[in-house]
Amino acid sequence: MAERKPEVIHDPKELQSRLAELRKQGKKIGLVPTMGALHYGHLSLAIAAKEENDISVVSIFVNPKQFAPNEDFDKYPRILEKDLDLLEQIGVDFAFVPSSSDMYPVGFDANVHVGGVSEILEGSFRPTHFDGVATVVLKLFLITGADTAYFGQKDFQQVAVVRKMVRDLNVPIDIVSCPIIREKDGLALSSRNRYLSEEERKSALILYEALGQAEFMIHSGTRNAAAVKAELRRMIEAVPDAEIDYIEIADPASLIEMENIAGNVVVLLAVRIGKTRLIDNMIVQPK
Ligand code: PAJ
Repeated sequence: MAERKPEVIHDPKELQSRLAELRKQGKKIGLVPTMGALHYGHLSLAIAAKEENDISVVSIFVNPKQFAPNEDFDKYPRILEKDLDLLEQIGVDFAFVPSSSDMYPVGFDANVHVGGVSEILEGSFRPTHFDGVATVVLKLFLITGADTAYFGQKDFQQVAVVRKMVRDLNVPIDIVSCPIIREKDGLALSSRNRYLSEEERKSALILYEALGQAEFMIHSGTRNAAAVKAELRRMIEAVPDAEIDYIEIADPASLIEMENIAGNVVVLLAVRIGKTRLIDNMIVQPK
């Protein structure tokens, strides 16, 4: 599928005025925020943005504000040329590739904090993470003026934080959550999978296996969330190199922990495999 190259824009002001012009002509704009090192999970969002809009924009920006000092900002993969080749295959119109100083010029001092849903789960292990995400995502929404933004269910809590920000601040944009794309064996695609050694890659499968076990137990009639979590803990603890950050069963809308499984639930996992921190989740409907 040969398509044209995306137009690469670095300057936020330039993108803002180009897209404002297109909006005036009545064009619908779809935005996919990413940090690059694109894989098919990202591309599935770009395909949706292209299909459902007149103009598709993918941003590629490794956002320093969402990494804590001890995290992997420095070693996060940056492979722009390869990313642009992939976007070309899909026919994305614009790649927005700002520098840190374009996004956070000297004197930048704003911070978007979304209370509640950002403070649990990922938020308790990465306390500044969602402020960094909300701040950059709101900037991207304002720079592009997009009608719709596409996010992956892979980062379930991130979508909840973004939705809440949009609701609380009356941001005029629709948020679409797209399904998790997995490898054949079930491992959710992630830019961080490339950090895994061959052995760790095998251990990493435990996340998907544990989610499958949760689904099996709930479908078989287990309604006690603690019993499901205890079984998942036992499974994961048996795997070499695997350290649990959290296992949670929560209400999919509020992400509040559920004790009794009545309606739909989301099972959320964060597990460190060696030095690599992986997250995954699954929505389960009791039968
Ligand atoms: P990044 O990790 O690059 O992910 C960009 C988008 O791709 C997110 O919405 C994420 O949920 C989605 N994604 C990642 N892996 C996926 C998979 N296996 N299946 C489906 N979608 C997947 O998330 C971020 O960047 C940043 O926090 C960002 C929103 C860009 C703000 O900096």
